[in-house]
Amino acid sequence: MPNTYDLSGKTALLTGAGSSRQTEEFGLIEGIGSGIARILVRNGCDLIFTYNSSVEGAMKLCEELSAEAPDRKIVPVQFSAVDYQEAVPELIEAVAREFGHLDLLVNNLGTTYVTQSEIPHDEPAEEAEKLLRINFHAAYELSKRACEYMQSRGGYLVNVSSCSVTMPHAKRPAYGISKHAMHGMSNEFASHYGQHNIKVLELQLGIFETLMTLPRLAFYREACGKGAVPLGRLGYPKEVGNLVAFFLSGGCDYMHGAAIKVDGGLTIRSFDTLTIE
Ligand SMILES: NC(=O)c1ccc[n+]([C@@H]2O[C@H](COP(=O)([O-])OP(=O)(O)OC[C@H]3O[C@@H](n4cnc5c(N)ncnc54)[C@H](OP(=O)(O)O)[C@@H]3O)[C@@H](O)[C@H]2O)c1
Repeated sequence: MPNTYDLSGKTALLTGAGSSRQTEEFGLIEGIGSGIARILVRNGCDLIFTYNSSVEGAMKLCEELSAEAPDRKIVPVQFSAVDYQEAVPELIEAVAREFGHLDLLVNNLGTTYVTQSEIPHDEPAEEAEKLLRINFHAAYELSKRACEYMQSRGGYLVNVSSCSVTMPHAKRPAYGISKHAMHGMSNEFASHYGQHNIKVLELQLGIFETLMTLPRLAFYREACGKGAVPLGRLGYPKEVGNLVAFFLSGGCDYMHGAAIKVDGGLTIRSFDTLTIE
């Protein structure tokens, strides 16, 4: 895909990139963060991105991005969301040291916990607490510090949320709740930081082909074929990247506090389109 936007001179901080796995059944599967990273860099943006356990994947991503865009500055940083109270200030310090300014924060990192049954009370309290810490509290603290850092010259904040805000998933109550919290955070930040010209966008993603969905990918693909998703397929990480790049380009700076569904029509599909055998 050719460069579509001019992001030269811009700097982005993206959480959760570099996860990838080569599979026999589906080929190479990458996370949404990697898709966003590839598109931002391809369009001229400098990038600082975080990873946690995917050390090898993050280094490989960094090498590939640097080979494709040798003039871009790309900085991978290890970041544990569980330890966000210590890790967030260090991350903002790294941004200041490496780039001296910031135009965009993308809160992308996230995890899920699948309960043994359909019953929410089967979810252990410590798992729910840990999930909220990773998916919400880390993003909240990072957003506060990043907006404080960006507010003198304005910027952009993107929160990667989920269709679970409108459509609960079975067996993942805390996950859905964490994305509702992110939805609330997007509104709060849009309301306050608009006056500092920091534009806020929430992306409510449907089902994408990533490591998070890999354990159920065959089922999801089959369900798409049976009408579960009107477009008949799952989403690809680079499609999220293109939307983030457009937002950062300033092509529609009146878009602020918006929650956009990127779900192939999953959440508006008609009951009648389902094929039940
Ligand atoms: N895939 C979907 O269908 C879908 C749908 C809706 C929303 N989303 C959201 O999209 C975002 C990206 O997920 P994905 O689908 O791309 O899954 P993924 O491939 O599993 O990527 C998750 C990313 O989050 C990072 N992460 C997980 N736990 C972390 C922790 N404790 N500390 C720091 N980083 C951590 C991972 O880092 P390491 O690999 O380095 O550990 C990885 O980079 C998530 O917020 C997810 O909720 C995904």
